[in-house]
Amino acid sequence: MEALAEKLTRDYWHLVAHRNELVNAGDYVRLDWPLGELVLFNDEGAVIAFDNLCPHRGARYFTDHAGNGRIACPYHGWGFRGGELRIPLRRTFDEAEIVGAELNTYKTAWCGDFLFAGIAPKQPLADQLGGVAQQLSDISRQIAARRDFNACPWNSNWRVAVENALEGYHVGAIHPDTLVPLGLVDDETIFEGGGSVYTAHITDERTRKGLERIRRFFDIDYAHDGYWTIHVFPFAMLSSTFGYSYSMQTFFPAADRSRSWFTSRLLTSKIKPGAEDVLEGFFDSSARLNWQVFEEDHAICARVSPLYDMAKSGRYFANSEVRVRELHKVLAEL
Ligand code: FES
Ligand SMILES: [Fe+2]
Repeated sequence: MEALAEKLTRDYWHLVAHRNELVNAGDYVRLDWPLGELVLFNDEGAVIAFDNLCPHRGARYFTDHAGNGRIACPYHGWGFRGGELRIPLRRTFDEAEIVGAELNTYKTAWCGDFLFAGIAPKQPLADQLGGVAQQLSDISRQIAARRDFNACPWNSNWRVAVENALEGYHVGAIHPDTLVPLGLVDDETIFEGGGSVYTAHITDERTRKGLERIRRFFDIDYAHDGYWTIHVFPFAMLSSTFGYSYSMQTFFPAADRSRSWFTSRLLTSKIKPGAEDVLEGFFDSSARLNWQVFEEDHAICARVSPLYDMAKSGRYFANSEVRVRELHKVLAEL
């Protein structure tokens, strides 16, 4: 892995899940990330993060991306529950050796109901997030459930993918049928904690009126009347239209620098009792639209040559690429 990706992975906190994905004992989410795998698991009420490997001889505990289950190794039965390893026939091991056996866990921290994981983060989560911490925490409290979870290998370097997510310059050429019809017009861009918050409004009358009409079905008290997207430095993005649902994306570096690990989740906001049926179609079409946008983005990112030096100093940025320019600066300073 590139030195920069390694440093970012090790030194920073990473947005990895929402509390409502891990409500019940046994709930888990499994991601691929630069160190292999990352499992977030509700261990009898305590959320832990670990590498998905059985410490005995390395069998993987979970193979699905999300679900409910037990940490129970199918190979020789090593389990983990209530913060403790459960080892069958423990007395048949050398006691001096077996006392050292443990799961390989990572650090965790919460910002509101958003879960972050870290390896050796250089600062407390609140310091890393800076001014965006309060906003993330407010957003996290609006979210009720995960509706959709997708994970796929992405055929570009992580930085190509993140840069792409940070600019609107490509929208006309790459998203003619998905994003162009919204008629997004920039409002404001704020830089915080290495990342950024971008807001825009929707100028297409029909879309905007349609979105305003369904507001009464939601039980949310924090949102922006338009489109917004937050880059949670270094690898995560969170975007929303009107705060009705949030698309949470992660672009983790892969060992092979021409690839990355992409996940996207649709997190839906709190709705009023009885509104489920009315919003079913709306959430489904949001998930479908997001997927089409990701496919369009993936196709163009895969076309960026790994030979292009993204770290070089002489690069060119349009006004609509100001967030890419800023990221470039932040990364150069590391
Ligand atoms: S590898 Fe898991 S119990 Fe042996
Ligand atoms: Fe895009």
